[in-house]
Amino acid sequence: MRVLVGPQVDHPRRHRIVWGDNLPFLQALPDASVDFIYIDPPFNTGRVQRRERLRTVRDPEQGDRTGFQGHRYRTLKIGSLAFADLFDDYLAFLEPRLVQAYRVLRPQGSLFVHLDYREVHYVKVLLDAIFGRDAFKNEIIWAYDYGGRAKRRWPAKHDNLLWYAKDPRRYTFHYEAMDRIPYMAPGLVGPEKARRGKTPTDVWWHTIVPTRGRERTGYPTQKPLGVLERIIKVHTNPGDIVLDFFAGSGTTGEAAARHGRIFWLVDRHPEAVRIMHRRLAAYDPRLERWPGAHEGAAFDPAAREETDSV
Ligand SMILES: C[S@@+](CC[C@H](N)C(=O)[O-])C[C@H]1O[C@@H](n2cnc3c(N)ncnc32)[C@H](O)[C@@H]1O
Repeated sequence: MRVLVGPQVDHPRRHRIVWGDNLPFLQALPDASVDFIYIDPPFNTGRVQRRERLRTVRDPEQGDRTGFQGHRYRTLKIGSLAFADLFDDYLAFLEPRLVQAYRVLRPQGSLFVHLDYREVHYVKVLLDAIFGRDAFKNEIIWAYDYGGRAKRRWPAKHDNLLWYAKDPRRYTFHYEAMDRIPYMAPGLVGPEKARRGKTPTDVWWHTIVPTRGRERTGYPTQKPLGVLERIIKVHTNPGDIVLDFFAGSGTTGEAAARHGRIFWLVDRHPEAVRIMHRRLAAYDPRLERWPGAHEGAAFDPAAREETDSV
């Protein structure tokens, strides 16, 4: 396997897997150079700061510091701002990447951002500011039913996908490419319609990636191929460049390649790159190492350059 080391700025119309931080990659892309972007960013960026809020009280016996007029004071911990920081930090991490996503999209392109109920409202406000409120087209609810059930609230069993079009009036959308789903009450619509099924709404029922199915790669946050295929078929044309810069196990790449689109996948984690490279080997992607790649024993191209497997 050949790994091209260093930023590759030729941007060929071929499949690419990029091992590195997505920000320098995005910054190196020309304006309007990709047709569609799907991202599924991690909730926890690993840069959470915990800032403690402290208050001092006068305590001549057990004071831990000396203050005004030589009195002894004791420090009390009255709480932590970790929660607020988490969101500040998360949005500060996402914002420059979303600004770049807008810049690199072609005029008829769209962005899909896969989120969950804890973060979707923050990111929607951010995207409204970057794309414009009229560029927001749908919030798709992906509903599934798996795992334990909360007993003190309604069990949360859905993800949220925000769709923004770069140009709210002209964007790629192939209604006829939608798959059909069964009617809830087929007896009410007649046999012909019942046989054909109906088009989906903005609520999509789809199972998670089965724990022991062929689709499972072992990557913990892997998303179902069926959800990505539905998106790719409707929102892109054959030959389009589909970018996922939080690519994980490469689900977007597989959905794109299956339908004749070109994938550009970016991830900084060596395990993700190893898994997606193996998963997508049949499509002969170009493997590139960019700045910001996390090192790791699982995948070290310097040690394995010119070998056949990752
Ligand atoms: C939720 S996972 C994506 C899962 C993917 N949708 C799938 O189906 O497998 C998010 C990915 O973003 C990657 N990531 C996080 N920060 C990144 C950054 N700054 N640049 C590139 N990749 C990043 C993580 O390594 C992780 O693989």
